[in-house]
Amino acid sequence: MNIKERKNILVTCGPGLKDYLLAELEGLGFEIVSSHAGGVVTRGSFIDCMKLNFCLRTAYNVLYLLKEFRCGSSEALYRQVNILPWENIIAPEEYLCVLSRVDTWSINNSMYPSLKVKDAIVDRINKKTGSRPDSGPDRTKAVVNLFWKEHRAWIYLNTSGIKLSDRNYRKMPHIAPLRESLAAGIIMATGYDGSQDIVLPMCGSGTLAIESAFIGMNKPAGILRSNFGFKHFKVFDKQIWEEIRNDARKSIDAGALRKRIIATDIDKQAIEAAKQNARTAGVEHLIEFNVCDFADTEVPEGAGIVVINPEYGERLGELEPLEKEYKRIGDFFKKKCAGYTGYLLTGNLQLAKKVGLKACRRMIFYNGKIECRLLKYELYKGTRQTPDNPG
Ligand SMILES: C[S@@+](CC[C@H](N)C(=O)[O-])C[C@H]1O[C@@H](n2cnc3c(N)ncnc32)[C@H](O)[C@@H]1O
Repeated sequence: MNIKERKNILVTCGPGLKDYLLAELEGLGFEIVSSHAGGVVTRGSFIDCMKLNFCLRTAYNVLYLLKEFRCGSSEALYRQVNILPWENIIAPEEYLCVLSRVDTWSINNSMYPSLKVKDAIVDRINKKTGSRPDSGPDRTKAVVNLFWKEHRAWIYLNTSGIKLSDRNYRKMPHIAPLRESLAAGIIMATGYDGSQDIVLPMCGSGTLAIESAFIGMNKPAGILRSNFGFKHFKVFDKQIWEEIRNDARKSIDAGALRKRIIATDIDKQAIEAAKQNARTAGVEHLIEFNVCDFADTEVPEGAGIVVINPEYGERLGELEPLEKEYKRIGDFFKKKCAGYTGYLLTGNLQLAKKVGLKACRRMIFYNGKIECRLLKYELYKGTRQTPDNPG
């Protein structure tokens, strides 16, 4: 396999994050071939995949296309996969995991096609080398993905392995933390770039604050990860990987964070966890943490961004006390945040109405399976109080 050969790369993402992933890929200079709700297709080499794994904030997996073929049966699947030169791609002492997504008339579960692909790969390696990799569900080693839709199938090398949203800094998750890729997408949606003050009351385990620091200083999202799927393929080149990392590190600029990142929570334990996570991420010194009621959060003079992610009664808390909290959030926005752009992430639009302000934009995100809105409020000085009716 030629490490420089340009092929289609499918970059997957969580629901609601596609537009931010598109922006990231374009920002990194990658062409866009196509996109759909679950991801974006671009073009590039295996080397490009390494770079994408290191840099992308909103992606889940970077999948390098090995082969696309017509496939009408599991026998054909075995044959088409078995003719690929796996002995040049996966060492016999590696461990292999096959992941499948299947949507074809003849087969209705993905276990059997996964097994067929695994057999086709290990049989080939065994025939050529005399030994074969172990296999199973562990995604921390060599991972191969199969997509099979009607009569077409695609075989990808999964160059990420464990999802890229797992950045490796959240050793202390607090209650209901946001996934890191979702937090990054939310901060991107606010337009934050390090040149504004950003205030994050109800910060919980600090994910929004840490992702803000990363974005503001252009710190690659994958900097804390030592394991990536691409390291488990034979073509992995340590020296090229070092160069990619050094290049990306050169663009880190803590000086670009010209304003303040303020993160608060009423729960002392949450702030302890957030500080510990920020320390692990190497950004603790850039974030001002405080234990306080959200309404007592310091809001620097002038313009800035305030993002708040309160509980919304699905998993935590009850609705009635939350109604009062949402009303208080509205008061906080009006009284303390005039001149700012306010954002509220919630999975409950009835509660959002209690804020009592008119949202000028509503963006859809998914927190796990829960459909949420990121509501945007322009908090003009002397804000007008218009009843909200979020749709
Ligand atoms: C949904 S969680 C936020 C999760 C966070 N975005 C993360 O990624 O970890 C809501 C947070 O609000 C905090 N909280 C609840 N009531 C509060 C209040 N009155 N003032 C400040 N924080 C409060 C809770 O302690 C909790 O950490």
